Amino acid sequence: MWKLGNEWIRDHSPKFYLNRDFSPVILDHIEPAVYMDHWSVQPFNGQARRISSIFALADAFAPTHVIETGTYLGSSTPYLASVADGPTYTIEIEEHFATRARRRFEDNHPALQIELVLGDSARQIVNVLQRIPAQDSAVLAYLDAHWLDQIPTTSELLALESWGGCWMAIIDDFKVDGDEGFGFDQYGDVVIGPGIVPDIPDVQIWVPAQPSERETGAKRGTGYVFTASALARIPSHAFAGLRRVR
Ligand SMILES: C[S@@+](CC[C@H](N)C(=O)[O-])C[C@H]1O[C@@H](n2cnc3c(N)ncnc32)[C@H](O)[C@@H]1O
Repeated sequence: MWKLGNEWIRDHSPKFYLNRDFSPVILDHIEPAVYMDHWSVQPFNGQARRISSIFALADAFAPTHVIETGTYLGSSTPYLASVADGPTYTIEIEEHFATRARRRFEDNHPALQIELVLGDSARQIVNVLQRIPAQDSAVLAYLDAHWLDQIPTTSELLALESWGGCWMAIIDDFKVDGDEGFGFDQYGDVVIGPGIVPDIPDVQIWVPAQPSERETGAKRGTGYVFTASALARIPSHAFAGLRRVR
């Protein structure tokens, strides 16, 4: 019955008119092999080179825990959960997104250790980090909580630093100076870019080195932030395709 329904939707959907509002329908009722090429139903905005960099870095870093801020539909979360042995926490402020994503994780990815936390990531990341022992843990954070007036990214990075363990962070929609083809976000005067990364001693910022023409999907910029202890875990070959900006 459902299969018939899925096939009917796949064959009759007006593909050119599907926008973000239809994404939950696609995710819930159409098999992954026929997903539309829309950033919101693909992991990491459908950016193949970003995915390649993230997995090269994550495999070398070997995180014990993952934290995602800004779950939205949960399209990237299962991929993030696949890089850690321990739990993945994903924090979403909008209850309707959180409820649907939680149900999707339970239905589609029961084997993954994903915990959805409802609330403001600037506050909830502190609570999540309190549950992770700073010693012997390594946290990979994917910071993607925005769209509202307040950008929590700086607070999130400060929370990671205060936590005191080993961490690295990946920031979506990050301005890549020198390559206008990568999209970035700006809220009022605040540009998501190196300027919102606090001046933490020994922290390095890296961005894609390959030109945006070589990226796929939504072509949004990415910022990679490493603490000294994270850098010590990652061999240089994992940085292929990236360049250091701070
Ligand atoms: C770009 S979407 C996240 C996309 C998702 N990470 C992915 O890869 O598919 C941004 C999400 O952040 C959420 N958000 C915005 N501000 C937030 C905050 N302060 N705390 C938690 N979530 C927030 C929004 O409701 C939205 O669902």
